[in-house]
Amino acid sequence: MVDLSGRTAVVTGASRGIGAAAAEHLARHGARLIILCPSAVQGRAAAETVRRRVVAAQVDSVACDLADLHQVRKAAERIVGLVGGRLDLLINNAGVAALPLTRSPSGHEMHFAVNHLGHFALTGHLLPALLKAPRPRVVNVSSVLHWLGRCRPRGPHPSRRYHRWWAYFDSKLANLLFTQGLAAWAQSHQLPLRAIAAHPGLVNTTLGSSALRADGRDLEARLLERMQARWHSPSQAAWPLVRAATDPRVAGGEFLGPGGRWEWSGPPLRVRAARRARDPDAVERLWRLSQRLTGHPFPSSGRPSPKGDR
Ligand SMILES: NC(=O)c1ccc[n+]([C@@H]2O[C@H](COP(=O)([O-])OP(=O)(O)OC[C@H]3O[C@@H](n4cnc5c(N)ncnc54)[C@H](OP(=O)(O)O)[C@@H]3O)[C@@H](O)[C@H]2O)c1
Repeated sequence: MVDLSGRTAVVTGASRGIGAAAAEHLARHGARLIILCPSAVQGRAAAETVRRRVVAAQVDSVACDLADLHQVRKAAERIVGLVGGRLDLLINNAGVAALPLTRSPSGHEMHFAVNHLGHFALTGHLLPALLKAPRPRVVNVSSVLHWLGRCRPRGPHPSRRYHRWWAYFDSKLANLLFTQGLAAWAQSHQLPLRAIAAHPGLVNTTLGSSALRADGRDLEARLLERMQARWHSPSQAAWPLVRAATDPRVAGGEFLGPGGRWEWSGPPLRVRAARRARDPDAVERLWRLSQRLTGHPFPSSGRPSPKGDR
């Protein structure tokens, strides 16, 4: 693990679970941290927890609901102020799973809105600060379940055939397509930004089960929790994210995950993404759709899209 003194990092969804563990690892190695999560109270509590565990940790929190693109823009402005205009690392980790069909304030399906669109917009708004750092990185957190996702040509999951888990799988595929798009965009603009994807394996958090319980599906929630209790801990699961954010040998466009059986747990290694996560047409389609839906946060001067000229 490299010394991160003097580097600034934003971790989304760091109030609990894998994000909180990744934030703590980064703080332990000297990074100045900003925790982003929807609730100001939980954000402050999470920052306080890191300060308690890591002596001299520098941690702030910013409240932002990633489903709300207006809040995302405001949060990015606040982050830029807090980091003095220069950001080294952005870990796009926050996520929701297994929600019933719900819409964001802009009317987008909620898994797509939080897991992908909010992070796409946040990354675009933070780009000027990232480009002030000498070796900036963006890490997008996907899942081994992206293998089950589809990139739908007309945009996110159609409401007629909505299924809470398929919507999640699609959003995790979108995380990988965005990583490829951002890596290609940075390369076509000859920028030093590295976009890397990571997945944590199967982890003992309340992702999915809390949504099932809130929706009155207690039996499903209990079954999922029983499985989750056997999966590995957030602290171990955070290592692929941390390695993706810090290892100088990891190149843009790579994908890291646990190297054990079926990638459920194990040491953080390079792993394979589904072929459809590397499909250049799907990368291009998602990039253009996301630009349009979020108000073009990525500048379109020079060669605007991942594939090249429009
Ligand atoms: N757990 C697994 O087995 C697993 C497997 C593969 C991939 N992953 C991925 O790992 C990432 C973290 O998952 P986790 O298991 O740590 O989940 P978690 O324990 O449920 O934590 C999710 C985090 O995201 C935040 N969040 C949720 N909705 C948000 C919104 N609208 N705006 C901003 N932040 C929001 C939550 O904040 P609040 O606390 O305020 O809700 C929380 O901090 C996700 O991207 C997930 O897809 C997890």
